[in-house]
Amino acid sequence: MTIYPASKSNPDMIPVLAADEITVTFQGQQSSLEALEGVSLQVDAGEFLCIVGPSGCGKSTLLQVLGGLVRPTSGRVYLDGALLTAPRRLIGFVFQKANLMPWRTVLRNVTLPLEIQKVEAAEARRRAGELLKLVGLEGFEDAYPHELSGGMEQRVAIARALVHDPAIMLLDEPFGALDAITREQMNLELLRIWEAKRKTVVMVTHSIQEAIFLADRILVMSSRPGRIEATVSVPLPRPRRLEMLYSPEFGVLSTRVRQAIQ
Ligand SMILES: Nc1ncnc2c1ncn2[C@@H]1O[C@H](COP(=O)(O)OP(=O)(O)OP(=O)(O)O)[C@@H](O)[C@H]1O
Ligand SMILES: [Mg+2]
Repeated sequence: MTIYPASKSNPDMIPVLAADEITVTFQGQQSSLEALEGVSLQVDAGEFLCIVGPSGCGKSTLLQVLGGLVRPTSGRVYLDGALLTAPRRLIGFVFQKANLMPWRTVLRNVTLPLEIQKVEAAEARRRAGELLKLVGLEGFEDAYPHELSGGMEQRVAIARALVHDPAIMLLDEPFGALDAITREQMNLELLRIWEAKRKTVVMVTHSIQEAIFLADRILVMSSRPGRIEATVSVPLPRPRRLEMLYSPEFGVLSTRVRQAIQ
């Protein structure tokens, strides 16, 4: 087993997730495309990390590498200090697109990970029902994906990612399709879950405001091939409250992230 060096922020701890010099090159028919170049990062247990960067810079690719869904061309990913080479149950994933199964009802989309784990059906339905309530979809249990709006589909995907209670959540722009008010509510809900269950979260977002509101730390990526351009720590106190969006400290952090992106 390969053991990754201790966390930089806390030398007594091994980072729960670490990427070491990740490069991803997609090989096309005629040409190849370098999506990521030399990306290294560490995520501490219980940390909320956000990743921002221009469209096409490789954020989704990086998240998929961190989840063991895409093998890097070079470099390594470590989960709890051990080399990660395939998806693991410990990691919950919400993709940029909801990817629901059209032939399954909302409830049965959410129970799917539990069916795979052979959790008893009544218990699976109970847990899925609770999560659907949490994401504001009570009453839609028997609906089919084509009957939902994009934002509702995405909320089903979030419930599905949470249902087996993974320690690590990888979220790829999970709230991109939601209106501003629902998005704020989902942000607060996500923080509540994160704080209550002490999860580790890595989330990609296009919204600088959302990144600052949620994160302990923000990684800013360069345009393709994606590299980590800057790291911005967010020292705002917790629990975060919506009023903080209007504080001077918030404004200073927004400027800092914006400048790093440019
Ligand atoms: N499976 C693939 N095969 C070939 N090229 C790919 C593949 N997946 C992604 N790419 C390319 O890699 C680059 C990075 O894509 P990626 O989806 O990671 O970007 P992103 O930062 O998530 O963008 P967005 O903000 O628009 O979601 C893009 O140029 C994309 O075309
Ligand atoms: Mg993406």
